[in-house]
Amino acid sequence: TTILVLNGPNLGRLGSREPEVYGSATLDDLRAALEASVDGERTRLDFRQTDDEGELIGWLHEAADAGTPVILNPAAFTHYSYGLRDAAAMVTGAGIPLIEVHLSNPHAREVFRHTSVISAVATGVIAGLGFDSYRLALDHILRGID
Ligand code: DQA
Repeated sequence: TTILVLNGPNLGRLGSREPEVYGSATLDDLRAALEASVDGERTRLDFRQTDDEGELIGWLHEAADAGTPVILNPAAFTHYSYGLRDAAAMVTGAGIPLIEVHLSNPHAREVFRHTSVISAVATGVIAGLGFDSYRLALDHILRGID
C-alpha cells in the first residue's frame, strides 16, 4: 500500500523557520521518523513538499484517481485555498481517507489561523502534536488498511 504524505508551502524550511513554533527538526527528519514507524515491506510512504498550490492540487487529483490515502499538511493554504479544498473534497468524496495535520496548534495562534477551509472536507484533523500529528494520522490510516 502507498500513502501520500503531502506538505504545503514553507514546510521545506522546517528546522530554520520559526524554530520557537516548529522546533529545530527538519522535513527530512520528519520523513525519517515516519518511515521508521512503518513496515517498509507493506507500506510505502510517498512523501512530498511543494510551495506551489497548483502542484499540490494536482497531487490530490492523483490521489483521487489512484485511491491513495492522504496525510495533508496544507500549511498556509489551509486558511484560504478554496482550490485545494475542492481537490480535497474529490478525495474524500471518492471514499478515500484524507487527514489534515498541523505541527502547531493553529487555534492557539493568530486569528487568521483559526479558520481552515479544508477541515470540513477532511476525514479528520490532528493538530498541535508536532511529528505525532503525522504519526497518529498514519496509525489511523494503517489500521483501516491492515
Ligand atoms: C501549519 C500551520 C499553518 O498555520 C502554517 O501556515 C504552516 C504550518 C502547521 O503545521 O502547524 O505553514 O500548517
